[in-house]
Amino acid sequence: MEAIVLGSGAGGGVPQWNCRCPICEMARAGDPRVLPRTQSSLALSGDGENWLLVNASPDIRQQFAETRSLHPRHGARHSPISAVLLTNGDVDHVAGLLTLRESQPFKLYATQSVREAVDANRIFSVCNPDFVPRVPIVIGEAFEPVPGLRVELFTVPGKIALWLEDETMKIGESTENTVGLEVTADGRRLLYIPGCAAVTPAVRERIRGADVLLFDGTLWTDSEMIEAGLGTKTARRMGHVPLSGSDGSIAGLSDVPAGRRIFVHINNTNPILVEGSDERKSAEASGWEIGYDGMRIDL
Ligand code: MLT
Ligand code: MN
Ligand code: ZN
Repeated sequence: MEAIVLGSGAGGGVPQWNCRCPICEMARAGDPRVLPRTQSSLALSGDGENWLLVNASPDIRQQFAETRSLHPRHGARHSPISAVLLTNGDVDHVAGLLTLRESQPFKLYATQSVREAVDANRIFSVCNPDFVPRVPIVIGEAFEPVPGLRVELFTVPGKIALWLEDETMKIGESTENTVGLEVTADGRRLLYIPGCAAVTPAVRERIRGADVLLFDGTLWTDSEMIEAGLGTKTARRMGHVPLSGSDGSIAGLSDVPAGRRIFVHINNTNPILVEGSDERKSAEASGWEIGYDGMRIDL
């Protein structure tokens, strides 16, 4: 199995178009300590020919252009992407569907509730169902979206997408609105969990023994956005467990065995983005790698 981190940033990317936080300013200035990052997306393949795109980021056009394995290879029109899977309905995971128009066939996989959100918004009909069948996925039922990859979805604590929030919304429940992905091929197991509001016993059990874990790296502390004067919501309110602290993801997963553990979906305020920062050193000392755009994982 091959995995390519197409986008390692959270919504907004690094730098974010309107943000003057120190990290965005460093990235904008070309400071080598902060790599620019596009928004959250992963590509997976079992045979190197057919690729599964997990989450369609608003930056997908740039991500494809920069990734040779995903360039068209045959005939007048072609794409190695033969399947797209959505782990939630967040803008940074669905807006790229608008780029994947032009009558290119692929299968679009999502849970029933995420699929309903896409179905309810007519702009997504640009992915013409004649070419892009929408396939609902049942939690816990394995399927093979591309040859050689066995995929199973599992629910994780989260919430409905920000653009669908209403007064009835709940935070932290494990529902079909936010899922993780377990991918197995040739006895190797990769877990992709770009959004997760808490490290629960179920999340720990699912991860145990994975060869590769790609996990929600959104914010370092729960109150990071508030303290930076950039927002009013905590990390958990946004559906993301912070990395640090006794109830953060680094501590919560420290005794769960995993071959490699890699943070993805990293928000531009997160100090792990700065090479040499105390937070970066602390995450690395705890066995975590900091995902970056173009990162390739062979397993
Ligand atoms: C998130 O990960 O919390 C969302 O992508 C936020 C958003 O939709 O901007
Ligand atoms: Mn996001
Ligand atoms: Zn910023």
